[in-house]
Amino acid sequence: MASVFITGSADGLGRLAAQRLVTLGHDVVLHGRNRHRAQEAMRAVPGARTAVAGDLASIKETRALAEQANAAGPFQTVIHNAGIFRPNAPRLETVDGLEDTFAVNALAPYLLTALIASPQRLVFLSSELHQIGQPDLSDLQSRRRWSGFQAYSNSKLFVVALAFGVARRWPYVLSKSSRSSRTARDCGSRSHEWYSRPKMRGWLP
Ligand SMILES: NC(=O)c1ccc[n+]([C@@H]2O[C@H](COP(=O)([O-])OP(=O)(O)OC[C@H]3O[C@@H](n4cnc5c(N)ncnc54)[C@H](OP(=O)(O)O)[C@@H]3O)[C@@H](O)[C@H]2O)c1
Repeated sequence: MASVFITGSADGLGRLAAQRLVTLGHDVVLHGRNRHRAQEAMRAVPGARTAVAGDLASIKETRALAEQANAAGPFQTVIHNAGIFRPNAPRLETVDGLEDTFAVNALAPYLLTALIASPQRLVFLSSELHQIGQPDLSDLQSRRRWSGFQAYSNSKLFVVALAFGVARRWPYVLSKSSRSSRTARDCGSRSHEWYSRPKMRGWLP
């Protein structure tokens, strides 16, 4: 039995993964963006040990979440699943003044990785769209040019880079990034519909 922490487990792939892991007998700790969502996660995943809460769009809350996770740990596996995909949304900033897709999808897993006591295995949910990530490193916050679709693709490329960076620096940790589209399709995820649209198919291998 492994102890597993899964971010964003009130819905979608995170919830599905949590349900599956509990069924397999693992000790699972859930996460919701706030207490209400954490409670919903607990209701959706009977058998999970507990749920912690924190908004990943806030650096302060992400740090506090890492503390809660460490109190509930140690974990053998941490699954960095929580993420947002808002291809048509206008550019939004978090309470910290950061572009929100960057903050939630890239910065939050980085912070949690740095702050949660190092587990044996890390899984980062990326996307096939990381392949068209083309971040302008002189404009990480996309202030000069905005596309929600590109911001997402960039954030998923950062996640892949994070997984590789961890693998290089922490050889004792198994660090893996997952292109989750196929998993999502197989699991019937609510957002998979997006990735199945004809326009999107053209982007995917
Ligand atoms: N579904 C696909 O086909 C697909 C394809 C490629 C990659 N992915 C990646 O796989 C992961 C899961 O995708 P999904 O389809 O399961 O997405 P989803 O159904 O939208 O679920 C995302 C989860 O992340 C949580 N979350 C979002 N913003 C948050 C924040 N600021 N603070 C805390 N939690 C937050 C959500 O909480 P709330 O429900 O409370 O908002 C939800 O639990 C994501 O990283 C996504 O980019 C998915």
